[in-house]
Amino acid sequence: MSALHVAVLANLKKNAPTFPGMPADYWADLDSEHTVEAITDALQQAGHRVTFLEGDVTLYDRLREIRPDICFNICEGHFGDSREAQVPAILEMLRIPYTSSKVLTLALALDKPMTKRVISYHDLPTPPFQVFERPDEPLDSSLAFPLFVKPSRQGTGMGISALSIVHDEPQLRTQVTQLLEAYEEPILVERFIDGRDVTVGMVGNLVSPVARRLPEDDEAPRIVRGLRFLPPLEIGLGDYAYEEAGLYTHRAKVDLADKLNYICPARLDPDQVETLNWLAAAVFRITDCLDVARVDFRLDKDDGDKPYILEVNPLPGLSPGISDLVIEAEAAGINHAALINLILDQALERYNMT
Ligand SMILES: Nc1ncnc2c1ncn2[C@@H]1O[C@H](COP(=O)(O)OP(=O)(O)O)[C@@H](O)[C@H]1O
Ligand SMILES: [Mg+2]
Repeated sequence: MSALHVAVLANLKKNAPTFPGMPADYWADLDSEHTVEAITDALQQAGHRVTFLEGDVTLYDRLREIRPDICFNICEGHFGDSREAQVPAILEMLRIPYTSSKVLTLALALDKPMTKRVISYHDLPTPPFQVFERPDEPLDSSLAFPLFVKPSRQGTGMGISALSIVHDEPQLRTQVTQLLEAYEEPILVERFIDGRDVTVGMVGNLVSPVARRLPEDDEAPRIVRGLRFLPPLEIGLGDYAYEEAGLYTHRAKVDLADKLNYICPARLDPDQVETLNWLAAAVFRITDCLDVARVDFRLDKDDGDKPYILEVNPLPGLSPGISDLVIEAEAAGINHAALINLILDQALERYNMT
C-alpha cells in the first residue's frame, strides 16, 4: 500500500471547554496527548504521513485546507446528544473517508436506552430497564430492587459509583435526581446484574453487510464471518472490589486503571466464549458497526453466568496499556501499533483504498 496522508481526529482533554458547575468527570472520556502520540507513531511506523486535528469547530476548515486521504477518527465530541456522530457527519459532507462506524451507529450507541431497544427488538439479552426524565416518574411494576442507575449518554464509568446500586425507592429517587442534575439527560434504570464484567473486542467487517437482520439459528455461525475476535477481558477489581461495589466505575477506569486485575483471557470455558462472541457479533451487526467495536457484558452469577449486554462501544478507548481493547489485543499478541494499523486497514479495505 502506498503511503497516505492520515489525519488523526481526536478531542484532547486539555483542549476541552470548561463551564461553571461542570462535574469533575465531565470530560473523562476524552483523550490524552499520550494516546494521540501513540496513534500517530503507529501510523508513521507504517509509513504514513500523519497530521493531528482537534475535533472542534475549527475542524471543517482545517480539513478543507489539508484534504487528508483518510481520517483516523476517535472524536467523542463535546456537546449534544449525538456528539460522537458530529465529526463523521462533517467527514461525509466533505467526502473524506474515515475509520470506524458512521453517523447513525455513533449516535445510536451513545444513547444506551435507544441501543437497548434495538437489542431487545432482536431478542438479544439486555437487563430490563426504564428511562427517567423526571425524578418522580412512577417505577414500572416489572422492575424489582436492587436496581442500577446510570446516565443514558455517558461513557468511561461516568456517573457510576457504589451509589448506582439502589435498594429501595428513596435511594432510587436520590440517585435519579442527582444524575438528572449533573448530566442534564435522561437517566437509565436497569435491573442490577450481580456478577462479573466481561468485555469482547472485535476488529473487522461483516462479509455480507446487506443483511442487518439476524439469521435463523441454523445459519447462526455465519454472522461471525469477517470479524476477528480478541480474547475476552474480565475486569477484576482486586483490592478495590469492596470500595467500588464490584463495579467498573469511573474511578476504577481512570484512577485505579494500573492497579486493577485485568484477566485476559477471561475465566470462561470455550462454549461461553463462543456465546459471547456470537452475541458481540450480533450487536455489531444490528447496530451497523464498522472496523472495530467492543461490547460490554455482565454475567449473572445467580443464573449460571447468563450474559447480559450492557452496551456497545463503536469508538472503544485506545490508550496504550490502559484501554480494555488494547489489553485484549496485547493478549492476542497484537501490540498497540499493530492494533491501530489493523483498524486503519479495515477502513482502507472498505473504501477500496488498498
Ligand atoms: N445493570 C447493571 N447491573 C450491574 N452493574 C452494572 C449495570 N450496568 C452497568 N453496570 C456496571 O457499570 C459499569 C459501566 O457500565 P456501562 O453501561 O458499560 O457504562 P460505561 O459507558 O460507563 O462503560 C459496568 O462495567 C458494570 O460494572
Ligand atoms: Mg462500558
